[in-house]
Amino acid sequence: MSGAGGPAFKDVDFSKSIQTPPDSPGKPKSKFTHKKTESWSKHFQNGNRRDGSWASVENKMAIPTSPGSHNTIEVPALRSPDADASQYMHNLSVSPSQKERRLSRNSFGAALPIPRSKRQSRLSSVTFPDVQEALRNASKESQRPGMPPIQPTREILVSQVQDVQSDKVKLAKNMAFVFDIDGVLVHGDRLIPEGKMVLDMLNGNNQLGIKIPHIFLTNGSGKPELARTEQLSKILQNPVNTEQFIQSHTPMRALAEYYNTVLVVGGEGYKCREVAEQYGFKDIIVPNDIVAWDESIAPYRVFTDEERASARPRDFSKVNIDAIMVFSDSRDYATDMQIIMDLLVSENGRLGTVAKDPVSQRIPIYFSQGDFLCPTEHPHPRMSQGAFRIGLEAMYKAHTGVDLERVVYGKPELATYKYADEVIASWMDVLHGEERIPENIYMIGDNPASDIVGGNMYGWNTCLVRTGVFQGGENDEENPANFGVFANVWEAVTAACRKQLGDDFKFKWDDRVNPVLHGNQSAIH
Ligand code: G3P
Ligand code: MG
Repeated sequence: MSGAGGPAFKDVDFSKSIQTPPDSPGKPKSKFTHKKTESWSKHFQNGNRRDGSWASVENKMAIPTSPGSHNTIEVPALRSPDADASQYMHNLSVSPSQKERRLSRNSFGAALPIPRSKRQSRLSSVTFPDVQEALRNASKESQRPGMPPIQPTREILVSQVQDVQSDKVKLAKNMAFVFDIDGVLVHGDRLIPEGKMVLDMLNGNNQLGIKIPHIFLTNGSGKPELARTEQLSKILQNPVNTEQFIQSHTPMRALAEYYNTVLVVGGEGYKCREVAEQYGFKDIIVPNDIVAWDESIAPYRVFTDEERASARPRDFSKVNIDAIMVFSDSRDYATDMQIIMDLLVSENGRLGTVAKDPVSQRIPIYFSQGDFLCPTEHPHPRMSQGAFRIGLEAMYKAHTGVDLERVVYGKPELATYKYADEVIASWMDVLHGEERIPENIYMIGDNPASDIVGGNMYGWNTCLVRTGVFQGGENDEENPANFGVFANVWEAVTAACRKQLGDDFKFKWDDRVNPVLHGNQSAIH
């Protein structure tokens, strides 16, 4: 497997048209239909059908209860319900009877909910109050004859330059960037210098003084959105707003409508419990709560007094856990895998029980992303959540004889890209008072197997940079970036801007420009 876990989709994922998601009756559909969404379906339909009988498997939304509100959008799941582990395993002799059972199972991976955009249209609102105020002051100036002229502020100049160059402004509002974070803008907590340069430019340090829309789409995880964006703002020395930020578990907020009691796995300490609380999950259990209830459940765990004191044990033999949410990388594979396995083979998520049928009474399990490897400070990429999942799938199959059905969010899953559309449109509203998706979207990523394949399939322009996972030649052979390979994010973004805004577009604001005095764009240097 190269870089991250590549998608392993099968025809069965497309037994329903991708453009007509299997929305439940009365459920709202996404208001955004991307122009090239169809390519995703076509891409995967080119694969060989492994077994004709699979075509008859009906994808059902088996999320157990319909949510009461209309805050979510359902998106077809693209991952095969088959375990990825099979390609890494010796033949485990799946018997014919087990095959039949597989065909009769419920597939809960048929559709993934994502949150609707929180933001209501603000078309009528004032987008740049400071500019409006400056313009009001400027008009007052003309009403005070004999008084010295007020020095034009930057905001007035920006506004006037944009008036003069309205065609270019229109083009700048019709493009957007989607940034991967690790390996593109930063390495862990370390800035990639071109990352700051790019954000300075997109935040207004350009010929038009305009904010060119951009959002952040990362498979990173493990802390609340606000904490992560504050950290990123410091590293990048540019504001990163939660409303322009998607980390791997952000769209999983939508699942809070579906499940009452959930096991949340991964991350440092209790940070993912905090994340789940913020997403609106009502009854959140983490592995430490279970170990504190019964330490013998994890025989190799050394449980400290501090952990015992901070856990929230209760009698879990009386609790049904409705679903498992792996939000972030496990910090203790042995304990987490043991508890997850116990739950997957239990009767409807009740610890201490063992289901007679491992499929029909199995609770669903969700993973926030599928990356197999992740670049870190270590010279070789380290195993990530995808590796944990594959290990779990292998153990589950060895133990029960059946494949583990599971749902994966994050790049390159369709649900995450659909959600990105929601966020882009909403961010356009914040920046420019226009809640819409620009026509020219550029994904800048370092990982061909997540950033690039997902962007390609979603109809975005894709740029692969050489500052992260990708270390190859001219382009990635399996998932080539369609807009090209660049040394770093600055090279990629400026190439995209030149294409959209013209070769002469300047990547720096010039304070010397004064259209009030000069009256035309010749004053722009
Ligand atoms: O795979 C783990 C994560 O750190 C990747 O982050 O920003 O490259 O999607 P990103
Ligand atoms: Mg990356």
